[in-house]
Amino acid sequence: MAQIFSPSANVLTKLSIVGSIAALPVLGTAMYAVNMVYGYKYYIPVEQPVQFSHKHHVGDDGIDCRYCHTSVEKGKSAGMPPTHTCMSCHSALWSDSPELQTVRASYISGQPIRWNRVHDLPDFVYFNHSIHVKKGVGCETCHGRVDEKPLMYKSHTMTMSWCLDCHRQPEKYLRPREAVWTMGWKPGMDASTGDAAGILALEPKLLSESRTGRAANLEGVELKQYIERQEAGGAGGGSGSESSTGAQGTKDNLKPGETQLQLGLRLKREYHVRSAREMTDCGTCHR
Ligand code: HEC
Ligand code: HEC
Ligand code: HEC
Ligand code: HEC
Ligand code: HEC
Repeated sequence: MAQIFSPSANVLTKLSIVGSIAALPVLGTAMYAVNMVYGYKYYIPVEQPVQFSHKHHVGDDGIDCRYCHTSVEKGKSAGMPPTHTCMSCHSALWSDSPELQTVRASYISGQPIRWNRVHDLPDFVYFNHSIHVKKGVGCETCHGRVDEKPLMYKSHTMTMSWCLDCHRQPEKYLRPREAVWTMGWKPGMDASTGDAAGILALEPKLLSESRTGRAANLEGVELKQYIERQEAGGAGGGSGSESSTGAQGTKDNLKPGETQLQLGLRLKREYHVRSAREMTDCGTCHR
């Protein structure tokens, strides 16, 4: 029988089979990425009525999460700041900025600013911030580098499989409680040396001695008093003994050279984290 395909065609076929197998992961990854971005609105910044920037407020000015999200330690929900929280600084700072017009209008009228939600689980899912904070799950682990986000976006999908990945093996993620707020924290790091150290909640209404130098020039807010008290009272942040206890706690927790897994397993015992069986039980999140 006459040869229909030349021997070289054979080589081509082989090449194209090998080629398409090699291309599969690429195609898969691309489809996955499209699904992630469009399916879960993941990594897409959400527009807001005021161009509020976490990068400015957390990254540059070092304001603690708890100053604005006041219920995150005690409550199910983290809570959103009322307008008077913004005005505690902005009645003096940037008080004529057009960017802040909506904030001033809301303050005068008493109508709250309607922030658009970024994270929103379906109603049939139970979630609670305070338990995660108590057991050493960092804000960063779920919300990413908030201190680097000019506009907020989701850093993770918030799907069931994402929740379960951690509930099966929380040791991969746990950190000392004192470092829950700290952005850029890594095992072996003192909680207060991260990029946004959590000092401000302990000294409400005040800016930290900003690393940018910009905040240090600001007048109005009781920044000067704060710095004076810092210098007079030594480390820790003035009036409160809480802040120094916090820092101390971290030092005790610090074991140089410990890997994330070693640390995670240790904290899992110390914080009495429930077993994977209980944490993956359907009734934990669907009640
Ligand atoms: C100066 C006040 C302020 C501080 C400090 C602050 N936030 Fe926010 N946060 C806001 C405001 C206002 C919004 C709503 C606008 C937006 O989504 O950006 C918000 C929104 C968020 C959202 C999205 C909420 C949603 O709709 O799902 C997350 C997550 C968040 N903040 C986490 C943090 C974390 C983590 C920190 C500390 C590292 C922090 N924030 C510090 C004011 C603040
Ligand atoms: C602890 C003090 C403090 C609080 C509280 C605070 N801000 Fe600010 N805000 C600042 C500082 C300081 C800047 C300048 C930031 C920079 O450029 O690094 C700023 C800048 C801004 C700007 C940009 C202004 C411009 O003209 O560029 C907006 C908008 C803003 N803040 C909105 C808010 C809103 C909304 C809230 C309440 C949810 C809030 N801020 C709470 C200190 C604060
Ligand atoms: C285990 C993951 C996880 C951790 C840790 C976490 N969050 Fe959240 N956060 C979520 C989820 C999920 C939602 C959406 C909740 C919903 O839709 O009911 C959310 C919502 C929010 C919101 C919107 C308001 C609300 O409560 O629904 C803010 C603000 C927020 N988180 C701030 C923080 C801060 C600050 C921290 C650190 C103290 C933190 N989160 C830690 C998962 C987490
Ligand atoms: C990075 C790790 C991590 C992620 C991600 C995570 N969790 Fe958790 N979750 C924990 C830990 C640790 C506990 C504490 C378990 C314990 O109490 O011992 C917990 C506890 C819980 C509890 C028990 C609360 C209670 O009061 O009984 C619920 C409900 C829960 N998580 C829901 C969720 C949901 C829903 C998601 C996803 C949107 C999620 N978690 C994502 C680590 C995580
Ligand atoms: C750690 C928390 C958690 C646990 C445990 C959990 N779920 Fe879910 N579940 C979720 C979240 C979060 C969603 C919403 C996912 C989304 O919005 O994409 C969800 C969604 C669902 C849905 C809706 C369909 C879907 O996939 O979106 C079903 C059905 C469901 N879960 C069943 C179960 C069953 C059955 C179990 C026990 C084997 C279970 N879940 C355990 C967190 C959990």
